[in-house]
Amino acid sequence: MIKHFLTLLDYSEKEIRHLLDLAIKLKSGYVEEYLEGKTLAMLFEKPSTRTRVSFEVAMTQLKGHAIYLDFTTTQLSRGETIEDMAKVLSRYCNAIMARLYTHETLERLANASSVPVINGLTDRFHPCQTLGDLLTVMEKKGRTEDLKIVFMGDCGYNMFHSTMIGFSKLWANIVGCCPGKRDYMPDPQIYEKAKKYAKGSIRIEHDPEKAVKDADVIYTDTWVSMGQKNAEQRITDLKPYQVNKELLRHAKPEAIVMHCLPAHRGQEITSDVMDSGRSVIFDQAENRLHAQKAILLHLLKNTH
Ligand code: CP
Ligand code: NVA
Repeated sequence: MIKHFLTLLDYSEKEIRHLLDLAIKLKSGYVEEYLEGKTLAMLFEKPSTRTRVSFEVAMTQLKGHAIYLDFTTTQLSRGETIEDMAKVLSRYCNAIMARLYTHETLERLANASSVPVINGLTDRFHPCQTLGDLLTVMEKKGRTEDLKIVFMGDCGYNMFHSTMIGFSKLWANIVGCCPGKRDYMPDPQIYEKAKKYAKGSIRIEHDPEKAVKDADVIYTDTWVSMGQKNAEQRITDLKPYQVNKELLRHAKPEAIVMHCLPAHRGQEITSDVMDSGRSVIFDQAENRLHAQKAILLHLLKNTH
């Protein structure tokens, strides 16, 4: 069976810790193995800055090569199936990283592929981001165990799902803070699965001040994700969940602020908080690189 990286639901605590240990080593400059002669296909159906650049740099630094494929300029745009694309890319490339609108399409790609597939973000999950975020929290707090991680805003999409899964597997306690409307609540199936595997607790809270009380980490994401409709309504509904100075007064004084980026300054987070000493947001962006090098080596060199 081919090992993919589609969601952290498929990875045990031990495997996640292994990837983090490897990422820490790689970040310190220690490289045991390279990916000489290996090629990563990077397929994008949605825009990207960090994912595209960090994966391409990761392959360059590991002495491999990456090919950027924009969905619209491939034959997928003229009706070639995702399965045929997977079979063809598998004949040329050693791994495929894909950013797709639906997670179902990613699963179809992975099922038809004979090389490892990495999720570069779907509607449901963004596991590469969460691995980089776990690395960031380990660096800043020295652990994930017993930390209170509060995710503010849209708990019904990729970033909350992956944060909830990854951090709770590593013994952190997760609070999702969102309006009670179905749109902003976690996908029930993913929520139940996350709870089943969680070592820490997971709960939903609707009151921002209560939620951030004693928080160690406050995380937020855009209110209008790629592929989501009704932008105006979403911005109105999520307004009370903004991460700002006033809200931070209710968290621990040493609480850190996280955001996967891209940010909409003045919406989900204020500029003063984003640029303050409590923000670790640009460390998160950097850590994507180190985390993804670990993923690539793990999948292509079977590190364990
Ligand atoms: N955080 C993240 O995945 O950023 P991009 O959309 O720029 O890739
Ligand atoms: N939730 C955001 C994450 C971007 C990295 C989106 O899907 O657009």
